[in-house]
Amino acid sequence: MSALLELEGVEVRFGAVKALDGVTFSVQPGTIHSVIGPNGAGKSTLLNVLSGVYRTKAGRVEFEGKDITRMRADRITRLGVGRAFQNIALSGDQTVQENLMLGRHALMKSGFVANGLRLPSAVREERVHLERVHEIADFLDLEPFLESPVGELSYGGQKRVEIARALAMEPKLLLLDEPVAGMNANEKRYVSSLLKVVLESLDVTILLVEHDMEMVMSISDQITVLDFGRSIADGVPKDIQEDPAVIGAYLGTPATKETP
Ligand SMILES: Nc1ncnc2c1ncn2[C@@H]1O[C@H](COP(=O)(O)OP(=O)(O)OP(=O)(O)O)[C@@H](O)[C@H]1O
Ligand SMILES: [Mg+2]
Repeated sequence: MSALLELEGVEVRFGAVKALDGVTFSVQPGTIHSVIGPNGAGKSTLLNVLSGVYRTKAGRVEFEGKDITRMRADRITRLGVGRAFQNIALSGDQTVQENLMLGRHALMKSGFVANGLRLPSAVREERVHLERVHEIADFLDLEPFLESPVGELSYGGQKRVEIARALAMEPKLLLLDEPVAGMNANEKRYVSSLLKVVLESLDVTILLVEHDMEMVMSISDQITVLDFGRSIADGVPKDIQEDPAVIGAYLGTPATKETP
């Protein structure tokens, strides 16, 4: 099986801080692959590299065998890497539907002028996109809120819109940065189940950055652990839970050989 995403020796520095330091791992298609690690470990920086916001100083990133290391963010999006942000970046005054349609702009053929003139081709195209937006909203239980301004939804609802907007770009790989941060236990379980539906029904591979260990351990196929910009472990949830280096990183102490 060839990997959907491969990182090799990825490095990002901010002044003296090595936010990423030789990060190497790969993501298999059809999996939920989580990246975990203490605060400041480099997780968000990693997603920024993958989506083309930051450039790696060294190393290489391949998506579907294509070198995307120095590709611009919009091209990476068009290749099929969609992203939801750690802090909600939606237009609160606009409706859920409008926000999801914004997510589809990169896919639309009709230009600004054709749309503005309401040419038949543009109207037809918009209808097809609207149908798809309804389908995606349905997967995330957002259909009843399509006409509501995003700002009127609950916090959990808004986080779901953020995921839906990333999915509206029809990504093959969905990057999620702390999708359940600030949610209660019930909402977390609910979002976990929605992510599994997304994985299975929409054929999307998920790269998940998340602090909630219960969620990470229950839904991940594979986990990569970062600490101070370095990848210190890579494996299935059970192995990660028992890895002394991982336990040490979270406790802020050097790894010991003891296991609980
Ligand atoms: N734009 C930036 N300018 C300067 N330093 C930065 C920038 N972005 C991140 N850093 C630094 O890089 C390191 C990694 O940060 P990053 O945000 O990737 O961590 P993280 O793992 O996402 O943390 P958290 O779990 O708190 O979200 C930190 O030391 C951070 O202060
Ligand atoms: Mg972060």
